[in-house]
Amino acid sequence: MNQYIDKNKDKFLNELLDLLRIPSVSADSKFKPDMIKAAEFVRDRMKDAGADRVEIFETPGHPVVYGEKIVDPSLPTVLVYGHYDVQPADPYELWNSPPFEPIIKNDRIYARGACDDKGQFYMHIKALETMLATHSLTCNIKMMIEGEEEIGSSHLETFVKEHKELLKCDTILISDTSIIANDVPSIETGLRGLTYMEVEVVGANRDLHSGVYGGGVANPINVLCEMIASLKDEKGHITIPGFYDNVQNLTPEEREALNSAPFDLDEYKADLQIADVAGEEGYTTIERTSIRPTLDVNGIWGGYIGEGAKTVLPSKANAKISMRLVPNQTDQEICALFTKHFESIAPPSVKVTVTPHHGGLPYVTPTDSVEYEAASLAMEESFGKKPIPTRGGGSIPIVALFEQELGRKSILMGFGLDIDALHSPNESYGLFNYYKGIETIPLFFKHYARLKSM
Ligand code: BES
Ligand code: MN
Ligand code: MN
Repeated sequence: MNQYIDKNKDKFLNELLDLLRIPSVSADSKFKPDMIKAAEFVRDRMKDAGADRVEIFETPGHPVVYGEKIVDPSLPTVLVYGHYDVQPADPYELWNSPPFEPIIKNDRIYARGACDDKGQFYMHIKALETMLATHSLTCNIKMMIEGEEEIGSSHLETFVKEHKELLKCDTILISDTSIIANDVPSIETGLRGLTYMEVEVVGANRDLHSGVYGGGVANPINVLCEMIASLKDEKGHITIPGFYDNVQNLTPEEREALNSAPFDLDEYKADLQIADVAGEEGYTTIERTSIRPTLDVNGIWGGYIGEGAKTVLPSKANAKISMRLVPNQTDQEICALFTKHFESIAPPSVKVTVTPHHGGLPYVTPTDSVEYEAASLAMEESFGKKPIPTRGGGSIPIVALFEQELGRKSILMGFGLDIDALHSPNESYGLFNYYKGIETIPLFFKHYARLKSM
């Protein structure tokens, strides 16, 4: 198998670069034609790799690409999930090279989506090709690559509910997460949930002269800042009543295990060029970014931001606020608590509107399952080191829904690194990681089939 990968190294890479040239940004309707191009590219490459029943399913949003290889109905079936959509590349001026013109520098591929998730799901298509070419596929494979992960997977939800038979499987395998380091393999056993809100604060019916009216009429930007500031206390706790009610606290043993993963705070700070970290009192950085919920402003705007100074009392201010959730919080519950609280703290001098965007549930998977064991053995075999279980801080909204609708757990066997700069300018993916993924995935199927038959 490794021989086949070695022989086809350049082809595998060039195909990924072609995929990265398609600006499949799901959030921005101007890229709609590119979304279709990307879906067709994925469909065609799945076909080339040897998948059957390859099909593009339209949704009211962006299409879903499906393909499968059923070798023997008596063998276990693995559903591979990934997403071909990417985050917007803005701000473009901070990229050292154009985001949709991939380049290789210092053994890394630089492009939007290089790691998240094009580089990672494409490993699965190349792994399938490799297994079929070398007659070593030991499981049935179903592949579903969607186009709306970065905007909340809302139409995929309906798709999954309506195609339960098509997606029927024994487990789900996903490469859309990270490892600790290239010499410290790890497997994420949890994801945080998410609820994403937009708020608007409106004062007077028009922008006003800040001298004539200033001091006598509410400034919505000032008010919004005060409201946001009050959402956390001096210990970094979120002040929304009921916010922590359902948060599952870990046992001291679980916390100790979590904190025993290799982590260098000084390196972390140096990488981000910050003098200190910040967050909820009583928790480590590892905990703050995985097992604890958060509240963050993602964007805030209003008033005059052009050149020079304009003395104005703006009539409106807006912000986008997200909360990362942990078991057993639900996005529905937290969305309702946030809305009620945010409305209640608005002074009578302004009008506040809260609009929910998308959300998703948190997820955890046990480490004593057959599929976890298979992933662990696969990584141990390819990295030469047993992977460490970690809890991830990011979100993949569909994973909890898979569990609800298909009754199956997902394994998050990702190969990214923190330095890959997901969602940031200059996103990249290591060539080492790309090829290591292609090498490890077939080992997962090998171990999974063997363990399932025991
Ligand atoms: N692949 C990421 C999630 C991720 C990254 C998990 C790194 C663990 C480690 C995914 O594409 C993503 O960015 N998800 C969004 C979800 C959202 C837009 C609904 C996120 O976490 O912000
Ligand atoms: Mn992703
Ligand atoms: Mn992402």
